[in-house]
Order: sequence, then structure tokens, then C-alpha cells
Amino acid sequence: MSEVDIRMDRPHLEALPTVRLPEGHRLETASEGFEPTWARIINAAFLNDTWTAEKCREQFSSQARFDPEGMFFVVSPEGEAVATAFAWRDTPEERECGRVHWVATLPEQQGKGLGRVVTVAVLHYMKKHGLSRAFLETQSYRLPAIRLYLSLGFHPTPKDAEHEGLWDEALAKIREYEAAEK
Ligand SMILES: CC(C)(COP(=O)(O)OP(=O)(O)OC[C@H]1O[C@@H](n2cnc3c(N)ncnc32)[C@H](O)[C@@H]1OP(=O)(O)O)[C@@H](O)C(=O)NCCC(=O)NCCS
Repeated sequence: MSEVDIRMDRPHLEALPTVRLPEGHRLETASEGFEPTWARIINAAFLNDTWTAEKCREQFSSQARFDPEGMFFVVSPEGEAVATAFAWRDTPEERECGRVHWVATLPEQQGKGLGRVVTVAVLHYMKKHGLSRAFLETQSYRLPAIRLYLSLGFHPTPKDAEHEGLWDEALAKIREYEAAEK
């Protein structure tokens, strides 16, 4: 598995789909002390325990550019936060291009459209706050994520031949997945 970060861009924030929540679920933004909830989802989805609430505070929520209104959670009918994503600006000065950051759904909740909900919510937030385009970084083996982002208008932005090769492989696998789905 290649851990190389590959980039996707959405060159505009027009024609955004509407947020469609599965029945009984609700969309929330971050409230005071959200970090442990966020870390629990991230650790479960990314299969490691390297993220902590403290690290989230250090890198994101303590920064002046962090806006809790751009940090989304889907809450299940049972009241559990099950998916998350947030809007980020790589520099405090950035006014055009937002980063869709840390999209994650608990493993047992995947495949219900929740990743789509939080990603779309982030894109609407960016548009509302005056940004005009979006990007993200992922890894070539994250096929569900890549398929989701493609369906939301992101396109691959390979920076060199190595990245082009990674994209060719990933897109071929997604085509195979789609062919098997039919
Ligand atoms: C990526 C992730 C957030 C998607 O969450 P989710 O709630 O399952 O998202 P959705 O249900 O909205 O969409 C998942 C899509 O992946 C597709 N998918 C599932 N398995 C797939 C596979 N093997 N290959 C390609 N696509 C696949 C599904 O068909 C679905 O698309 P559809 O809605 O058009 O049918 C989730 O898989 C996750 O947390 N993964 C681990 C963390 C991660 O990789 N995050 C992204 C980092 S950039």
C-alpha cells in the first residue's frame, strides 16, 4: 500500500449537491470538548491509535483559523457520532482554496452515505465562507474515499509521473469495482 499523498481538486464550489441524511440521523457541528469524540472516529476509521484529543487540539482546534462551524459530525439515531469531516485552510491567509480534511466514518457505519453527507457539508460551509475551490489529499488505496470524491466533482491532480501511475492503478480498480457492482 502506497502511503504517498495524492491530491484531488474541485475547481469551483458551484452545483453542490444537497445534504441528504439517512432517516433518524442528524448533522451537528463541533461543540466545546468535541476532540475525544473526533479522535474516537478517526482512530476507528483509519485503524490506528495514533490520534488523540490532545493532538487534535494542538494541530487544529487551538489554531485561530479553526472554526467549529466547519467541523461536522453525523449523529446516529442512537445519539452516537459516527462520521466526521472538517474544513481547513492550509495557511491562515488562505482565502480561496479550502482543504476537505479527515473524512471518516466508523467502520460498522460505512456504506450508508455518511461520508458523502459530511463531505458535502464541508463544501457548503466553504462556499458560505467565501472560498471558491476545494482540494484534498488521500492515498491511492483508499478506493471508497476516492470513488466518493470523484462522484462529488473532485478530479485527480497528479503532480508527477509517480502520481500518474498511482492514479492509473486506483482508477482502474474503481472501474473494476463499478463493473462488478452492475
Ligand atoms: C472514505 C469513507 C469516509 C467513506 O465513508 P462512507 O460513510 O462509507 O461513505 P459513503 O457511503 O458516502 O460512500 C462510500 C462509497 O464508497 C464506495 N465503495 C465501497 N467500497 C468500495 C471499493 N472497494 N472500491 C470503490 N468504491 C467503494 C461505495 O459504493 C460508496 O459509493 P456510493 O455511495 O456511490 O455507492 C470511509 O470508507 C472511511 O472512513 N474510510 C477510512 C478512512 C478514509 O479512508 N478516509 C478518507 C481519507 S482521504
